[in-house]
Amino acid sequence: MTILHTARLRLEPICLDHYAGLRLLNADPVVQRYISGRPETPEETSAMIERVQGRWKQFGYSWWSFIEEDTGELVGAGCIQHLGHDPANEHEIGWRLRPDRWGRGYASEAARRMASFAFDDLKTPSLAAICHPENANSAKVMQRLGMRYRGDEVWHGQTVAVYDIGAAAFASVSR
Ligand SMILES: CC(C)(COP(=O)(O)OP(=O)(O)OC[C@H]1O[C@@H](n2cnc3c(N)ncnc32)[C@H](O)[C@@H]1OP(=O)(O)O)[C@@H](O)C(=O)NCCC(=O)NCCS
Repeated sequence: MTILHTARLRLEPICLDHYAGLRLLNADPVVQRYISGRPETPEETSAMIERVQGRWKQFGYSWWSFIEEDTGELVGAGCIQHLGHDPANEHEIGWRLRPDRWGRGYASEAARRMASFAFDDLKTPSLAAICHPENANSAKVMQRLGMRYRGDEVWHGQTVAVYDIGAAAFASVSR
């Protein structure tokens, strides 16, 4: 399982050791505002860890926890997965951060590293990202990554804004 490194973060494949940090992250209503709209329960966090561990085994990628190098704290999480969790669909990138770590560039820093992993290691031709149409902070991370808005689509029963970027475009913006 692939650990990724950035200047300030270590991206570790989600595992049981991350339970307490993931509880803090996913039980926060501010984090969930544009995701599920409600705090995650302890049972849901445990089930998520198990599900994600299964995807790491099946695909060799899934969700990472973002560990802050300076403190060792779990400050966020992000993923490369398939849109709609269907391997027939294109790859999707996603992120979330503890609100006390917003405004430092962590999400964009982690996103660049996860996108490099998807393009360089998985050889994915394109990456998509989806967000609630009002989730301006997440859309800005997409734009900083070089992604372009491609329209609104329905995923997981919700109308969401969809952004994407191809391998060549990512190579030119990340040079
Ligand atoms: C989406 C989310 C991760 C974005 O967090 P964020 O902190 O705004 O994004 P980044 O970590 O990339 O930080 C960028 C901001 O830090 C600022 N910044 C400060 N220091 C910086 C540095 N050293 N490097 C880069 N940016 C820095 C940037 O200017 C930018 O601020 P701005 O948006 O006001 O211009 C966060 O809002 C979140 O977790 N939301 C809840 C979960 C969620 O909705 N996830 C997405 C689901 S689709």
